Amino acid sequence: MTVAAEAVELGPLQGFHDLAHGEDDFRKAVLDGLSQPQKRIPCKYLYDERGARLFDQICALEEYYLTRTEIALLEQHCGEIAQLVGPNASLVEFGSGSSLKVRIILDALWTPAAYIPVDISREHLIESARALAEGYPDVAVIPVCADYTRAFSLPDGASGEPRVGFFPGSTIGNLTPTEATVFLKKAAAALGAGGGFLVGVDLKKDARVLNAAYNDSRGVTAAFSLNLLARVNRELGADFDLGAFVHTARYNTEKGCVEMHLSSRSRQAVTVRGIRFTFEEGERIHTEDSYKYTVGEFHALARGAGWQPARTWIDRNRLFSVHYLEAV
Ligand code: AVI
Repeated sequence: MTVAAEAVELGPLQGFHDLAHGEDDFRKAVLDGLSQPQKRIPCKYLYDERGARLFDQICALEEYYLTRTEIALLEQHCGEIAQLVGPNASLVEFGSGSSLKVRIILDALWTPAAYIPVDISREHLIESARALAEGYPDVAVIPVCADYTRAFSLPDGASGEPRVGFFPGSTIGNLTPTEATVFLKKAAAALGAGGGFLVGVDLKKDARVLNAAYNDSRGVTAAFSLNLLARVNRELGADFDLGAFVHTARYNTEKGCVEMHLSSRSRQAVTVRGIRFTFEEGERIHTEDSYKYTVGEFHALARGAGWQPARTWIDRNRLFSVHYLEAV
C-alpha cells in the first residue's frame, strides 16, 4: 500500500492512502473503449472534481428520488442499524463522495472506532474526509484514494471490530450483476468474519419514474455525462465538441437497468492522444448502466457472494431498499 502522506496536509486525518492508478489507466480505458464496436468509457471516470460536484447536484434533484428516500430510511432505522453493527466498529465506505449519509450512521453507532472512506476522486475525498474528521474527533478518519472495485487491502488503522462496509446510493447498481457479485465477495474477504455490510439498492419500478430520474428537466444529468468528454479533452488532449453529443438514458426493462449513452449528433471525427475516432450520426458512447433489483433478486445476489441478508428496510412507496448483510 502506498502512503502518500507527504503530499497531503493531514490535519485531523489519521492517515491518507493513495492507491489510485492515475492518467495511464484513464488513457488506456478511453483508447480501448473508443476502439470497440460499441464505444464505451467506464462510468468510474465520470467522477473528476467537477463530476463529483455535479453528482451532488443530481442527488438534490426532484426527479432523482434515490438520495432523499435512502436518507429517510437511514434516519428512520439508524437505531436498529446501530444494534446490528454493535460497538467499536470500523466503518468502510466504498465510493464515499461527500461523506454525508455516513454521518447519520456515525451519529447512531456506539463508540465507532474508525471511518475509512474509499473514493477515486482524490481532492473531493480529502476535502470531505477532513470535514468529517473535524466533526468526529473521536473517530479515526483514514481516507483511501482508490478504485474500490480493485483495492481491497484496508489500512492498519481499521482495527476496530467488527468491520462494517457501507455502500449507499445504489452505487452497486453501476456494476453489472456479475461485477457486483465479485465486489461483494472481495468485500466479504476484506471485512472479515463477524463483518457486516450496509448496502443501499434502488428497486425496480415503473419505467417512467426511472426515465425521469436519469433525464432530469434541468439537464444536470446531461451535464454530468458530457463532463466525461470535457475530462477526456482536458486530461488526454482530445478535441471532443461537447455540443456535438447528447446525453440519453433509457430504462431497459429486460435487463432491469437504466442504460446511459452519449449520442453523436452528426457524422464526425475526434482525435484522442493522436488517434482518430470516427462517429456516425446517432452512434453512441456507452457511459453508464444503473441496475435495479427486486428485494428477492438482491438477496439472491448477496447470498451468492457469501453474505446473509439479516434485515431489509424499504420505504412505503417501494422506491428504494437498504439491506444489512452479515458475513456467512
Ligand atoms: C452513483 N450512481 C448510483 C448513480 C446512479 O443512479 O446510477 C449515478 C448517476 N448517473 C446518472 N445519474 C446518477
